[in-house]
Amino acid sequence: MPNNRRVIWRDGEFVDWEDATVHILAQGVQRGSLAFDFISVHETPRGAALFRLNEHLARLVNTCRIMSLDLRTSVDELNAACLETVRRNPGATALRISGLVTSVELDLLPSHPELTVFIAAYSGSDLAARRTPLRDAIKLRVERLKQGRRPEHIDPQAKVAASYTPAIPARWLADEAGFDDVLLLTESGLVTEAPTSNLFCVTGTEGTSQIVTPPTDKVLRGITRDTVMQIAASLGLSCVEADIHVDELQAASEIFLTNTSRGVWPVVQLDDAVIGAGTPGAITRRLQDNFRAIVSGESNDFPGWLHYIEAQT
Ligand SMILES: Cc1ncc(COP(=O)(O)O)c(C=O)c1O
Repeated sequence: MPNNRRVIWRDGEFVDWEDATVHILAQGVQRGSLAFDFISVHETPRGAALFRLNEHLARLVNTCRIMSLDLRTSVDELNAACLETVRRNPGATALRISGLVTSVELDLLPSHPELTVFIAAYSGSDLAARRTPLRDAIKLRVERLKQGRRPEHIDPQAKVAASYTPAIPARWLADEAGFDDVLLLTESGLVTEAPTSNLFCVTGTEGTSQIVTPPTDKVLRGITRDTVMQIAASLGLSCVEADIHVDELQAASEIFLTNTSRGVWPVVQLDDAVIGAGTPGAITRRLQDNFRAIVSGESNDFPGWLHYIEAQT
């Protein structure tokens, strides 16, 4: 189904793709206070399924709480609406929930603060063409010019549109220099995350190696991050949360990013340094293979993570 034939859920009803619009003076557009979450949809032997739906909805509720956004739709209603949106849009591979103030407001504080919620299910492949094609293994550039990610400005746990704006100039520069993504640091050079992904690295030598990821006082509690940590534990791999200085990262034998759309995403170059052998490392591959088997329903490990759109008998 082409995306422009799809339907979008808006506060309890379905509207055509072109009709899911808001006014240019809507407060949520002008002030960037749009809460969202992004969920992957997978075709499995038991039909289409949403991955870790409950956790994504809990995160949306948390974003609204942190940002004082007035979400009036209940989690049960959102849950049912997500399933119905996927049912009505066969072949969708992703679902995006957005909540924003759609009333026209000139003041910073809206007089009608209640959010309008939109749920769109779409296929990434035929949505807007990308500037640069996504690679299977990527080059990451450390953002050093505007070092200084300050969790006290926007809580890293809030998935709100405005928090992505500061990373956009850095992404442009990285793009022009032939890199695929950027790594954001704190003022003291500690690693945080990429604008839309968490970071992991593998330190130590074979036999004593450890997977390390920055703690959640600095980064979004990514759902893929949590998934990978649980998979690592089930495989007997040591995985810890710890501060990582950017200089230590250069010495890592493996680096990978995680996010909902890419899963486990190997990094083979950091600035000018080649990571490991310049190809995805063994631990990254193992986690990636296990992750793919789980989301596709091939593996029965962690059965509660797939939320099927049709009741299972
Ligand atoms: C800032 C940030 N960090 C990390 C992630 C990865 O999170 P998840 O695995 O839940 O997609 C995202 C994407 O949602 C993000 O926006």
